[in-house]
Amino acid sequence: MENYYVTTPIYYVNDEPHLGHIYTTIAADVLARHQRLSGKDVFFLTGVDEHGQKVQQAAEGRGIEPIELADQVVARYQSLWPELEISNDDFIRTSSDRHKAGVQAMWRRLENAGTIYKDFYEDWYCVPCETYWTETQLKDADLWDSKQCPDCKRAVEKIQEESYFFRLSAFQDRLIEYIKANPDFIAPASRRNEVLSFIESGLRDLSVSRTTFSWGVPVPGDEKHVIYVWIDALTNYLSALGFPEPEQPKYWPADVHLIGKDILRFHAVYWPAMLMAADLPLPKRIYAHGWWTVEGEKMSKSKGNALRPDKLLKQYDADVLRYFLLREVPFGHDGDFSFAALKQRYNSELANDVGNLLNRSLAMLNKYRAGVLGTAAEENGTDRALIADVEAMQREVADYMDKQAFHLALDRINAVVRHGNRYVEENTPWALAKQGEDVRLDTVLYHLVETLRLVALQLLPFMPEKMTGMLSQILDRSVQADDFSFSADGGWGVLEAGQQCRKPEPLFPRMD
Ligand code: MSP
Repeated sequence: MENYYVTTPIYYVNDEPHLGHIYTTIAADVLARHQRLSGKDVFFLTGVDEHGQKVQQAAEGRGIEPIELADQVVARYQSLWPELEISNDDFIRTSSDRHKAGVQAMWRRLENAGTIYKDFYEDWYCVPCETYWTETQLKDADLWDSKQCPDCKRAVEKIQEESYFFRLSAFQDRLIEYIKANPDFIAPASRRNEVLSFIESGLRDLSVSRTTFSWGVPVPGDEKHVIYVWIDALTNYLSALGFPEPEQPKYWPADVHLIGKDILRFHAVYWPAMLMAADLPLPKRIYAHGWWTVEGEKMSKSKGNALRPDKLLKQYDADVLRYFLLREVPFGHDGDFSFAALKQRYNSELANDVGNLLNRSLAMLNKYRAGVLGTAAEENGTDRALIADVEAMQREVADYMDKQAFHLALDRINAVVRHGNRYVEENTPWALAKQGEDVRLDTVLYHLVETLRLVALQLLPFMPEKMTGMLSQILDRSVQADDFSFSADGGWGVLEAGQQCRKPEPLFPRMD
């Protein structure tokens, strides 16, 4: 069985979960579910990033220990994920022994490869981004006078301390070569170019330890140093698989690391360089998605407009949120979350298109045939066109999912749904019933229900609960997502004549 390994970033525990966190995790979940349906042996990892100065300061601000803060936030994530139907196979905490062992093993490998040396660091640091900046970088960004972080524009602080360094500069040429030779490694393409020009502008060695705070993983053999939180965090992708036992764990290299655009440099420059130094294979792909604003505004703690998933879930079904987030904005682009846009998408695509096709098809089958499917004995061109469209959709959706083009996958599935609704108009089953054209009526109803079943199968990764509901109505039994696979259930004609279908129960009632 082929392996498939997908990851999310591990989330800092200084903040409660918000829209940005659920977005990546939902996207990763959809990929994981799609690949499981495709028959792959999937490992889907998420978790939390507990260490670093930012978390230590946040804990101090609340008058508690960092681990207490971490425990509180972890509890939030662990209750949130099932509510959003996140099917992660593991949850990594960076405070766990298994992770710390992985980080220290990574450190030793970097050291043994001669890529770590001790020196003195004297420059600037942005705590919110956990990022180092040189004076030149601040000057180049015109931020020297205000001493602001070029990324987040918050105040940077001066650091003067003994530090270990990683010879990042030594990997400049290899990284450029690798990225050029592997066009799918960094996506979307605009991000790949961004990374290339960053590397081409020159890489400096990276400070990889701190001595002025303690919340982290100690440097092996020199315990007054704490390992830089990004070296620590990035290693989660291996430590969760058991690294360093075995050194090349099952599932490694990852098929895709999903991340937000703000953490691209860490994933597409530092992480590959570390892996090269440690002589480990590189992940196959890094996909950086865009950022959400909310009703046109940047989410921020000070404005208090961060969208909190627990609030959203009081208003909307998890499936509706999952659908909207992946349908509204092309993955990789920035986008805006608005309640009006959500309602609009829901009513037009879910209530009017999918919901309507399901309701009218099952209603007619129940009205004219007591809910029992007949045989498709008399096919004409409209039937063949529908089948061809369904089959093309299955192939195209698979391609889109391999490229993380969620919105295109959904658009393609929706095209089949609209085709189904057109097919009803073309074939007017009510007229066939009136005229007693039984063979043709059975054929049309069969094509409708079979189309619905195959649409539900493709939508299952996006809306597990709604789609198991839809499949239960069609198959007249209660089903679960993992009852299905594309190989067993994906073929046209798997539904058999004589299949009893339920009366329709509205899945997507209109939103007002
Ligand atoms: N701990 C690091 C990641 C380490 S991975 C080895 C981190 N954590 S974070 O909690 O600050 O952010 C996690 C993710 O949330 C990032 O991918 C970031 O892009 C994403 N988002 C935060 N705000 C966002 C939006 N407004 N919109 C979309 N995603 C955003 O960084």
